[in-house]
Amino acid sequence: MPPTEEEVLQALRSVNDPDLRKDIVSLGFVKDLSISGDRVQFKIELTTPACPVKDLLQEEARGVVAALPGVKTVEVEMTAQVRTSVEKGEVLPEVRNVIAVASGKGGVGKSTVSVNLAVALAKTGATVGLLDADVYGPSIPLMMGAEHDKPWSKAGRILPIEKFGIKMMSLGFLLEEGQAVIWRGPMVGTTVSQLLRDVDWGALDYLIVDLPPGTGDASLSLAQTAPITGVVIVATPHDVAANIAGKAVTLFEKLNVPLLGVVENMSSFACPSCGTTTRIFAGMSGEELAASYKVPFLGSVPLDPEVSDSGDKGTPSVIAHPQSAHSEAFRAIAGRLAAEVSKSAYAEKGLVRKLGAV
Ligand SMILES: Nc1ncnc2c1ncn2[C@@H]1O[C@H](COP(=O)(O)OP(=O)(O)O)[C@@H](O)[C@H]1O
Ligand SMILES: [Mg+2]
Repeated sequence: MPPTEEEVLQALRSVNDPDLRKDIVSLGFVKDLSISGDRVQFKIELTTPACPVKDLLQEEARGVVAALPGVKTVEVEMTAQVRTSVEKGEVLPEVRNVIAVASGKGGVGKSTVSVNLAVALAKTGATVGLLDADVYGPSIPLMMGAEHDKPWSKAGRILPIEKFGIKMMSLGFLLEEGQAVIWRGPMVGTTVSQLLRDVDWGALDYLIVDLPPGTGDASLSLAQTAPITGVVIVATPHDVAANIAGKAVTLFEKLNVPLLGVVENMSSFACPSCGTTTRIFAGMSGEELAASYKVPFLGSVPLDPEVSDSGDKGTPSVIAHPQSAHSEAFRAIAGRLAAEVSKSAYAEKGLVRKLGAV
């Protein structure tokens, strides 16, 4: 006797999403359940294709259903529908999540992290955009191997440049080569706002915004132009020690922008010959910093010449060196970030509570 639909769902209620802390049936993740003879098929629709425990959930769901009497074959298809935590307005109406990447000062690897996170998210199947809002030193075109590209415009809107599966825009694409801009405060804000409004971003799951270092006009303008899901703070051990990262965290708290987490960069060295990872600096780690501000810690990227070399050569490291420890770190951070975004979407709308009644 094959199981009933209710029996299958009952079994699946024992499978929990560790981030949303609810079972996948109550969360409404189980779709298109069909039972024919000893064969059971269903889909699990997650809140992000970058879910770090995707494979684990699939195996667990398959296991509990396969253990039911009368079941021989279980087919589980994993899909995803990225949610948003913000009310959509007239700017970026089809962008589900704007994620800002910020730091207390320059040179900490903010652009490197932005680029590699964007590419890592896109590799999971998410639709991703990357906005270089660092108008003082736009470096995304070079890091993405697109410094000679010029964007087209259509119906008065600028079309983003597409590379490595992501849509990107930078002031660097719009300036003539070698052209310098002398910035006055309000111009920065206006330019960032224009890059959001005038670019035809289309539908995106995640738009990663590489902010200028420090905090100020660009961050404020971003927060005022479009609803931001949250901000990621990139910090090196030096910023942590000098409390530069802490100040950035405090500023975003003041701006009422949710903090999605802290990424620690260049704190350790992965030895290419022996494979061990050594922390280079003593003192407070990014993890401790995150704990002290009650912000999620998203992970640590080791210092590796391959990272800077890939950036200089225009192929992000997660593509040029996918097997390396740093690429593994970028992928893990992308997964945790996506999980934090999903959590914020549920928390904001109280969906966990509402769906609990299903
Ligand atoms: N994990 C890392 N390992 C080695 N070099 C790195 C790493 N992260 C960043 N870099 C290098 O450090 C420099 C500054 O990084 P960048 O991303 O431009 O910083 P920011 O955008 O914060 O100014 C670049 O040359 C970059 O290639
Ligand atoms: Mg930069």
